[in-house]
Amino acid sequence: MVNVMFWFSGTGNTRAVAECVAEALAGTTLVPMVQATGDEAAGADTVGVAFPVYYFGLPLYVLDFLRRMAIKDGAYVYTVATMGSSPGVSHREAAATLRERGIDLSAGWSVRMPGNYTPLSGAPSARAQERCFAAARAKATRIAAAVTSRHYGRLEDSFLPMRVISPLFRCVGKRRIPHADHAFRVSDHCTSCGVCEQICPVQNLRLEEGHPTWRGQCQECMACLQWCPVEAIEVGWITKGRTRYRHPDFTAEDFMLRSAPPAQA
Ligand SMILES: Cc1cc2nc3c(=O)[nH]c(=O)nc-3n(C[C@H](O)[C@H](O)[C@H](O)COP(=O)(O)O)c2cc1C
Repeated sequence: MVNVMFWFSGTGNTRAVAECVAEALAGTTLVPMVQATGDEAAGADTVGVAFPVYYFGLPLYVLDFLRRMAIKDGAYVYTVATMGSSPGVSHREAAATLRERGIDLSAGWSVRMPGNYTPLSGAPSARAQERCFAAARAKATRIAAAVTSRHYGRLEDSFLPMRVISPLFRCVGKRRIPHADHAFRVSDHCTSCGVCEQICPVQNLRLEEGHPTWRGQCQECMACLQWCPVEAIEVGWITKGRTRYRHPDFTAEDFMLRSAPPAQA
C-alpha cells in the first residue's frame, strides 16, 4: 500500500496533524506541498491533502495544487482541514475542484486547532492549546483508521446555516487574499534577521534595504507575522500587542523549506 499525504501550513497546525495521521497510517510519505512537483502521488493508493481553512474554504495555493496534482485511477483521495472554529465549505470546495478533473473526493475531515488569525484574536492560552492538541491527536488516529478501512462519503464541513453563508465570505476571501499583504507593516523592532523572507512558503517576501517588502502574491498564511522573533510584523496596527501563535512542536528552521532538499515520494 502506497500512501502519500501533502500538507500546506503557515504556523504548524496542519503539519502537526498531518504527521499524526501519517504516524498512524503505516507507510505514509509526507510531502510539503510548497516543495512538491505534483507527481509524488502518481502511483499512490491513498492520497491525503491537508490544509488550514482560510475564510471558510481552501488556501488559494491548495486549490491550485488540487488542479495539478497527479492521481491514479481508483486512488482513495481525502482531505484534512485544520481550523480554529468553522471549516465552512472547505471539503465541498475541494470536492468540486477535483470533480472538474473527474476525480472523486472520498472523504474530508476537519480538526480543530488553535486559531492563528491574529487580526481577529491573539493566541489561546497554553492550557486551551494543550486541550486542542490532545483532541486533535485522537482525531488524527480516527482519520487514519477511516482511511485504512476506505471510509467513503463523510465531508466534515460546517452545519447549516453556516454552510449556506460560507460561500459569501468565500467570495470576499478569495478576492482579498492575494492582496492581503498590502496591510502588512514592519515596526522599528525589525532587526533585519531575514526569518520572514526565508519562512514565507510562497517566497512573497524580500528584504529590501534590510526591511521586509511584500510582493502581492500573498497566501495570508501569517507565517511572516507569527514567526518573526521580535514581533516586528503587524497587519495594519490591529495586531499590535496581540499574542502570536506558532505550533509549539516546531521551530522556525523547520519551516524554512527552501533550504531543505526537495521531497521524495
Ligand atoms: C487568513 C486566515 C483565514 C482563516 N479563516 C478561518 C476560517 O474561516 N475558519 C476557521 O475556523 N479558522 C480560520 N483560520 C484559522 C486557521 O484555519 C487555523 O488556525 C489553522 O489551524 C492554521 O493552520 P496552520 O498552522 O497549519 O497554518 C484562518 C486563518 C487565517 C490565517
